[in-house]
Amino acid sequence: TRKIIIDTDPGIDDAVAIAAALFDESLDIKLFTTVGGNVSVDKVTKNLLKLLAFWNKDVPVAIGSGRPLLREAIDASEIHGSTGMDGYDFATSKYELLTKNHAVIEMYKVLMDSKEKTTIVAIGPLTNIALLLRMYPECVERIEELVLMGGSLARGNTGVLSEFNIAADPEAAKIVFESNLTLTMVGLDVGEKALILAEDCQKLKKMNKTGDMINQLFNSYGSGNMEVGLHMYDGCAIAYLLAPEMFDVRETYVAIETQGALTAGATLVDLNGYLGRKANCRVCVDLDSVQFKQWFFDAIGKCD
Ligand code: BDR
Ligand code: CA
Repeated sequence: TRKIIIDTDPGIDDAVAIAAALFDESLDIKLFTTVGGNVSVDKVTKNLLKLLAFWNKDVPVAIGSGRPLLREAIDASEIHGSTGMDGYDFATSKYELLTKNHAVIEMYKVLMDSKEKTTIVAIGPLTNIALLLRMYPECVERIEELVLMGGSLARGNTGVLSEFNIAADPEAAKIVFESNLTLTMVGLDVGEKALILAEDCQKLKKMNKTGDMINQLFNSYGSGNMEVGLHMYDGCAIAYLLAPEMFDVRETYVAIETQGALTAGATLVDLNGYLGRKANCRVCVDLDSVQFKQWFFDAIGKCD
């Protein structure tokens, strides 16, 4: 099994990613950390505790950063609703899973205490990860890989050229991309191929209790639409861990724009080598959407 930490801001597509990860036997989730992103860190933490109660799963949850390193927070409540996970009425929360320490400290402990290296999957803004790298630079050696959902090869979904998780905290993203970690970027380009349609929702609803819950969340999910499909952005990060053969990947240099008045948060994926820099990232450039859908249904089918 692969040991992982999931850093998240649930988030409707985060909920899908979490479901897929929790029920896959090849992943051993040591810790969840939360970060302000889709909505405030308090709200996303509550959402995560509700999900864990729904599945009755006991994984520690550490609350992380409530705001970006330098900027004011932006949010995505127009996509995920004012709670950050609108659409389903969860009965309970597992408050007992909350750790005493801040996310960065808990991450550090997991990384240093484990014999094998740990993989981090980051599906929200990169604030916690940047703080971890600055506070405990020695932990770079203990991270097997950082798989992050964020960025894009071309256009954005928050700014003209910027994707939400990077746009929310560009300075944090810059620290992460310049850190020498083994880094995999799962961006909008593949997220836009990971589509769930109205007919898939019909199937989902009848599958099992997780399918029913997710279908209800999808009814209020504002990323994409039922004609074109709903985007499983964060699910792609877990799909990449479990079935990398579905993705086309290019090793390349990625620069993070932090200065541009209109372009801060853009990921400059330098496929043609204009910047003359050594590759710092494996970038997912394409995804087989048919295989992804099969993977998605298999993953939800494993949940109960
Ligand atoms: C990313 O932004 C969030 O709204 C989603 O949860 C995902 O992590 C997509 O740009
Ligand atoms: Ca997210």
